[in-house]
Amino acid sequence: MNRRRFLGAGLASAAGACGMLPMESAVAPPRVALADVRRLVVERADPIAGRCRYVADLGARRVPQPILLARRGESFDGVIETALPQPTTVHFHGLTLPEAADGAGFDPIEPGAPKRMRFEVKNRSGLYWFHPHPHGFTAEQVYAGLTGLLVVTDEDDDALDAALAVAPANRLALAIAEARVVGGAMRPYAPSVEDCLHGWLGNRALVNGRLDASWIVHPGWMRLQLLNACNARGLLVAFRDGETLVPFHLLGTDGGLLAAPRELERVFLYTGERVDIGIDLRGRRALAAGGLDFDERAGFLIDQAPYRADEIAFSVSRGAREVWEIKNSPISMPHPMHLHGFGFRVLRRQGTYGEARRLATEPGGRLATDLGVKDTVVLWPNETVWLAVDFALPQEAAFRGAQRFMFHCHNLEHEDGMMMRNFSVI
Ligand code: C2O
Ligand code: CU
Ligand code: CU
Repeated sequence: MNRRRFLGAGLASAAGACGMLPMESAVAPPRVALADVRRLVVERADPIAGRCRYVADLGARRVPQPILLARRGESFDGVIETALPQPTTVHFHGLTLPEAADGAGFDPIEPGAPKRMRFEVKNRSGLYWFHPHPHGFTAEQVYAGLTGLLVVTDEDDDALDAALAVAPANRLALAIAEARVVGGAMRPYAPSVEDCLHGWLGNRALVNGRLDASWIVHPGWMRLQLLNACNARGLLVAFRDGETLVPFHLLGTDGGLLAAPRELERVFLYTGERVDIGIDLRGRRALAAGGLDFDERAGFLIDQAPYRADEIAFSVSRGAREVWEIKNSPISMPHPMHLHGFGFRVLRRQGTYGEARRLATEPGGRLATDLGVKDTVVLWPNETVWLAVDFALPQEAAFRGAQRFMFHCHNLEHEDGMMMRNFSVI
């Protein structure tokens, strides 16, 4: 046992307690090739707490809550089916997809009406994810457990694992969410007015759907791909060995690997964002991963107007390269803004103050995660952020004609609360 290492994932409670180290079972989540999935079924797992799950039907077997794996260039060709009493969709967050496969809520799936979906994975290696996106129900369904991970690999990814000699057991893909647990039971989603304003927060961490998750890993390098799958809580991620912070390397962000790794002691991850992290475990016995949270006051519309599902707010020409300037109000809270269909670069941040300013370790007032390709970017209160977006789309039949996409806040209560816009690429 002492040749192995433990990783425990904990989350700050409202009181600010940090990571914990529960030494319980280490069950690896089931991994399934995306190309083998015939049906993706959305179902209720527990009607009392309202918990739901994705089940991958491979023909010969059914795998609940799988981690999907795909090589860049592989395809999904399957049917999406739902048994929920509400409309749902399946959105693959971060992937370059045509409107018909984006699952963005224009075309909800109803019980008894399965939907065929076909797409090719065009994106670089990285951690992507899938979740419901039916307008007005997204927050409730994601909180209920509908979050799935998609790990995309390619040659760059293979080369990195080989260079670090990462053992298979030392490579983990983790979705960090949270639950409201009262008296030992998970509470169903029932937001108050206050929750709608700030976002629905929990008091216990759920990692890949489990409370008190821990893993046994081996000496050497470990590679962690982390998603913040919380509805609304931003996470400051750090690793502790006893009282000392363990330095790590930021290897990649939402849209793939960085040009060069960046050594850090903590990294900020807002909802919808991902990081790829390398940690050297040699000489360490146990690691606890902890989050802290940030939160302030509210105000959450884009250009002072609520979302309208039937409206196209603006159009962009196919292949255009644009710089978007996005401003957050001084009396606001952090908003993780997410763009469908296109990765972007963060050029510069201005107006950052307070605690957030200390996270800006890079030139141009940027965060370390701003060094990579992003699809979700946090705007702190009073900030202006400049993004470089390339609106190129693949030259293929599936992408022909005008394609509608979305730009919205990934605080899910804000998203359902109309902090969203449709736009069209023509
Ligand atoms: Cu992860 Cu439009 O969402
Ligand atoms: Cu998305
Ligand atoms: Cu927001």
